[in-house]
Amino acid sequence: MKVSVIGAGNVGATCAEVLAHHEICGEVVLLDIKENFAEGKALDIWETSAINMFDTRVKGSTNDYSKTAGSEVVVITSGLPRKPGMSRDDLISTNAKIVKSVTEQVVKYSPNAIIIVVSNPLDVMTYCAYINSKFPSNRVFGMAGILDTGRYKAFLADELNVSPKDIQAVLMGGHGDTMVPLPRYTTIGGIPVTELIEKAVLDKIIERTKKGGGEIVNLLGTSAWYAPGSAAAQMVEAIIKDQKRVFPVCALLNGEYGLKNIYLGVPVILGKGGIEKIIELKLTDDEKKLLDESAKAVKEVMNVLDNMKD
Ligand code: NAI
Ligand code: 2OP
Repeated sequence: MKVSVIGAGNVGATCAEVLAHHEICGEVVLLDIKENFAEGKALDIWETSAINMFDTRVKGSTNDYSKTAGSEVVVITSGLPRKPGMSRDDLISTNAKIVKSVTEQVVKYSPNAIIIVVSNPLDVMTYCAYINSKFPSNRVFGMAGILDTGRYKAFLADELNVSPKDIQAVLMGGHGDTMVPLPRYTTIGGIPVTELIEKAVLDKIIERTKKGGGEIVNLLGTSAWYAPGSAAAQMVEAIIKDQKRVFPVCALLNGEYGLKNIYLGVPVILGKGGIEKIIELKLTDDEKKLLDESAKAVKEVMNVLDNMKD
């Protein structure tokens, strides 16, 4: 089974490495527009195969999409990352053009693929890939929720001195400061988090989670890649192995949560068919209000995209 990763930068190369290292598919194709860049990264990853003991083939390509032909899943990471002082939304004009042209090529060579978008601003770039692919929405969705919940779980694990493996959590909404954490649905080994942690401390962790992307940008001068690359690979694995995993995923809503024609993070079941079901939680009035505010913020950026000239 072939998986292609478009954009061989920090996130794309990490995703390709995790896919290969864990033998999630038979072949990974890494593609970038920069001459020889993807070939170099792919070769470096392949040269770890005898050390890390895997046999997934890793190949690189400079903008030759015929090498990606017949991919089962395509992960789109191409585009500019944030620099300090930039919001994810500042990236829209450059990244929309990149995501549009990449999607057109992906569709041409892999008409049956499932597309996972990572490029920012995530919710709107996923919508951009959806419109340009003309694929059904169960086959075009975005990665953000696994990263955001990953950050939330990491901070909780530190605070409570427990294994992150035992933390279950759901975050909803857009990938940005308006994301909606749901402490009601956070458990530690089955125990509601609210029984283990004071509200003030939990509120601080939630605030840190919302700004988790910015925290890394301030430390590194560019955005994160280990957690995002691994999160995208985990979604690929759920699809390739038809695992029916329940993940927060940026999905097209068509009436769910009272919202229509908008991509937003919601819990879904991921399997061979891509998004096999959107899970509708019963939200409290306060939670629904936060989700609506998040949707409003995403809609504003969607309008920028809709008004952009080609
Ligand atoms: P990067 O700059 O390291 O890599 C991006 C790569 O895309 C570069 O190698 C560049 O040459 C390539 N590229 C640009 N135009 C292209 C085109 N037309 N075709 C093929 N390749 C092209 O950036 P990084 O850190 O890997 O981030 C990639 C994107 O992912 C950014 O937009 C970033 O904001 C986003 N991101 C999203 C996250 C999420 O949770 N959804 C998390 C982290 C990053
Ligand atoms: C992140 O959350 C910048 O979206 C990227 O790390």
